[in-house]
Amino acid sequence: MAAGLEGTTVADTELSKVDGQNGVLYYRGYNIVDLGVKADFEEVAYLMWYGKLPNQAELDAFKAELVPLRALPAIVAEMLPTFPADAHPMAVLRTCVSALGTVDPEADNLSTENVQQQAKYLVAVLPTIVAAWERTRTGNAPIAPNDDLDHAANFLYMLTGVVPDAAVAEAMDAYLTCLVDHGFNASTFASRVTFATVSDIYSAVTAGVGTLKGNAHGRANQLAMEQFIEAYESGDVTQWYHDKRANKERIMGIGHRVYKVADPRGKVLGPLAQKMSASSSESHWFDVANTIEQLAGQDSYFVDRSLYPNVDYYSAIVLYMTGMPTDQFTCAFAMSRMVGWTSHVLEQLANNRLIRPKANYTGPIDLDFPAIADRE
Ligand SMILES: CC(C)(COP(=O)(O)OP(=O)(O)OC[C@H]1O[C@@H](n2cnc3c(N)ncnc32)[C@H](O)[C@@H]1OP(=O)(O)O)[C@@H](O)C(=O)NCCC(=O)NCCS
Repeated sequence: MAAGLEGTTVADTELSKVDGQNGVLYYRGYNIVDLGVKADFEEVAYLMWYGKLPNQAELDAFKAELVPLRALPAIVAEMLPTFPADAHPMAVLRTCVSALGTVDPEADNLSTENVQQQAKYLVAVLPTIVAAWERTRTGNAPIAPNDDLDHAANFLYMLTGVVPDAAVAEAMDAYLTCLVDHGFNASTFASRVTFATVSDIYSAVTAGVGTLKGNAHGRANQLAMEQFIEAYESGDVTQWYHDKRANKERIMGIGHRVYKVADPRGKVLGPLAQKMSASSSESHWFDVANTIEQLAGQDSYFVDRSLYPNVDYYSAIVLYMTGMPTDQFTCAFAMSRMVGWTSHVLEQLANNRLIRPKANYTGPIDLDFPAIADRE
């Protein structure tokens, strides 16, 4: 039996195909490199939920449908000031997403139409919650959504109160597009398992947020950036790398359970990280990441284990260049993956069966039950 279910196929899906040997990723048949460069986030959300790319009229109507769903929910507005300012943003997000289920009177209505509507709501409202927590923990009032801005630009606006430059908004949009779905990754699997018990979409995506929070999964983007900062501040990136290796510490943002070659999302996010660094006053960030990648690429330890930069490696630089605080990076990942989680919930709903694998019991059996006085 494979530890960690490695290599085990658990269900059919039409949503995304991850080709780990050749380094290719498709969303509903479209190559991620095409989508990352040519499509915007809302277009990809439509593709995932409805199975086709929208025409212009459909896209316009879809975007207009999402806008009124962005408002900060009253329950979240009440909860945010009660959290400790040093709570991790993913812990806050997990709690707020769960709370949304308590105020939706239709939470347990599992008709396809209702679950589709809930999916739209969750995707539309998530950036508002993430931005509102950033404002709240820094002692500022949340900023209301700007109806004239698309999803990515509006998020950055709610975070800072400033309409972002087009290039920065486009980079955020490309990031969100690239992270939407990825086969049966851990958080998606957790969401599907939860929904398959005939629970509800809020429970499913709360499980998703909680799972994404892990260092081996979504939080690697935060940890990768913190490593780049540490390497830069050490004054000698090469020495920093050798020290990490000598201490047998993992390099965050490197390695993947499925990809044994470079992660295809890096083809979109790597050049974007380079472009954003070059056009800022902080061009060294791309150089730091690139130097560490080169060192790992010449190190037989990484080469022999087929360990290459994953999506979190260069996306850490992209997110940093948008001005997001590092500990909010995983929330940006959740904003994107919410489309994936909810698409999987809808796919599970269409053909649901309880997900209940077997365990291989390895302990003893038929032991004599000793009276408590006879136990050591
Ligand atoms: C992603 C990850 C969890 C995949 O893990 P996995 O498939 O369970 O693989 P393992 O953790 O068993 O690692 C396999 C081997 O590679 C090594 N390895 C994996 N990732 C490594 C990294 N980033 N740095 C150093 N060594 C690493 C392990 O130590 C192990 O070595 P061993 O065979 O000598 O024991 C792992 O590569 C990792 O921790 N990466 C850093 C975190 C990260 O970027 N996560 C985001 C994933 S998108």
